[in-house]
Amino acid sequence: MNRRKFNQKLGTGAVFTIGWPFLGSCNGKKGRRDTRAAAVSQGFDPDVDLELTAEEQIISILPGQKTKVWTFESRLISGKEDNLHKLEGSYLGPIIKVHRGQKIRIRFRNQLPEVSIVHWHGMHVPEQYDGHPKDVINTGENYVYEFEVMNRAGTYWFHPHPDGRTGPQVYYGLAGLFLVTDEEEQYLTLPTGEFDVPVVIQDRTFDWDNQLVYLTQGHMERMNGFLGDQILINGQANQTLRLKSGSVYRLRLLNGSNSRIYKLGWSDARPVTVVGVDGGLLAAPREVPYLMLGPAERTDLWVDLREMDQGNELIMNSLSFPSMELMGGRMGGRGMMGGKSTSLPQSSRYPVFKIQISGTGSIDLHLPDQLADDTPLSPSAAHNQHNPRTFTFPMQRMEWTINGRTWETYGVAEEEKVALDSTEVWELVNSGSSGRRGGMRGGRGMMQMAHPIHLHQVQFNILSRNTDEVDPDLWDAVKEGFVDDGWHDTVLLLPGMRARIIMTFKNYEGLFLYHCHNLEHEDMGMMRNFEIVAG
Ligand code: C2O
Ligand code: CU
Ligand code: CU
Repeated sequence: MNRRKFNQKLGTGAVFTIGWPFLGSCNGKKGRRDTRAAAVSQGFDPDVDLELTAEEQIISILPGQKTKVWTFESRLISGKEDNLHKLEGSYLGPIIKVHRGQKIRIRFRNQLPEVSIVHWHGMHVPEQYDGHPKDVINTGENYVYEFEVMNRAGTYWFHPHPDGRTGPQVYYGLAGLFLVTDEEEQYLTLPTGEFDVPVVIQDRTFDWDNQLVYLTQGHMERMNGFLGDQILINGQANQTLRLKSGSVYRLRLLNGSNSRIYKLGWSDARPVTVVGVDGGLLAAPREVPYLMLGPAERTDLWVDLREMDQGNELIMNSLSFPSMELMGGRMGGRGMMGGKSTSLPQSSRYPVFKIQISGTGSIDLHLPDQLADDTPLSPSAAHNQHNPRTFTFPMQRMEWTINGRTWETYGVAEEEKVALDSTEVWELVNSGSSGRRGGMRGGRGMMQMAHPIHLHQVQFNILSRNTDEVDPDLWDAVKEGFVDDGWHDTVLLLPGMRARIIMTFKNYEGLFLYHCHNLEHEDMGMMRNFEIVAG
């Protein structure tokens, strides 16, 4: 039953018209698309040129039957071997590794049975290469991205961004890492090569035939977002990383889950040592007892295994915290209002990945006390320091909204226009339902959820988090897990929280997105454009 549903969703049996445009355009906006992106441009001389094809594949994830997935298949056309690393036996796309300043061309081919477009999450690129839903292409079409890498060294990623279908496309496997390095990073003695390890964390549910199950039930389940039954690491069911004793590692964590929030803590109670966040290295390492990681957020960890012996294990758990699901995750978990129960509640304690020591290495590096030479933006640089632009993310009439609006492909409100080259403070407010704490249920938090708010085009600094309206039990359980230094493109807004962020809109005019990165919330319309206009 489940399987049949899944097959329908994946369009099994559909004949893919490879290489042929799907003539019946289903978005009807073809005329407004920037056609320059359909072909490579002369005069752009790429350092790295690659092909990225979104397609269906059948791979082995669990013992027994193979699993149908959607994946990014890749091929290096020109560049160095190191620019493209495939993860063998995983549905995850390749790891694309580039250097700041390099010119990158990516030829995206859509072989899915539906429209798609690729977004480079965290990257500073012109509008036409940002992967806006208005730029989706049909089955069989191509979209050529050509941009110069302007970001700092860091852990970025890519995934599809079609209107209403981002959740399922990412879920069925479409995502990959995009790593940027630069001179500054290379000058620091950080672990590299086999000691620099990607850890993409996702949750999935499989049916009895080993097929992926996405949301199957009603509106309430979508309101909560997708929560799977098991954790996959780097697209694989095996949650064990085999690492060497006598060594230090850089683990690049990406929460690539659709909705799940993690509270990550080591099993031996050692602190979590953070060296980088969304937008690259911190100025100095930070130690926290545990780390909150919302959907789309990245954190680079320094992990010291020098004292560990062969056969030892170190587990990264997600620790328990008060539920942030609708209806407190309690009644929702019993099928009330159509909610699906998961055998892995988000708020419970469970292992995320395990490090098993096998073999000895010898990269005996010391954690530098200074990392990036970096100064955050000062609030006084903003023209609206004392009067921030405010965006509230409430539930209205059982829909997730932003300042009372939902997604419109080309829609931009007056308050969503910002000037090129301006620096602004934004206040992001998670106001629950109807703008009041507790909302319509009266009980604190009953109709509230966390929203990981993401902005395209920019990296921002987090100035403050106001927690006056956050449930004190929740805040107590998570407050030490936020690393707000450094540059971010996503900020996890707890129910009742108001966060102030600051950023500069540089280089490119145009329509860019800001949205909740709970992908089900995004697909339901908790996404808007902001427009950068020449000042
Ligand atoms: Cu990672 Cu607009 O998305
Ligand atoms: Cu993004
Ligand atoms: Cu949300």
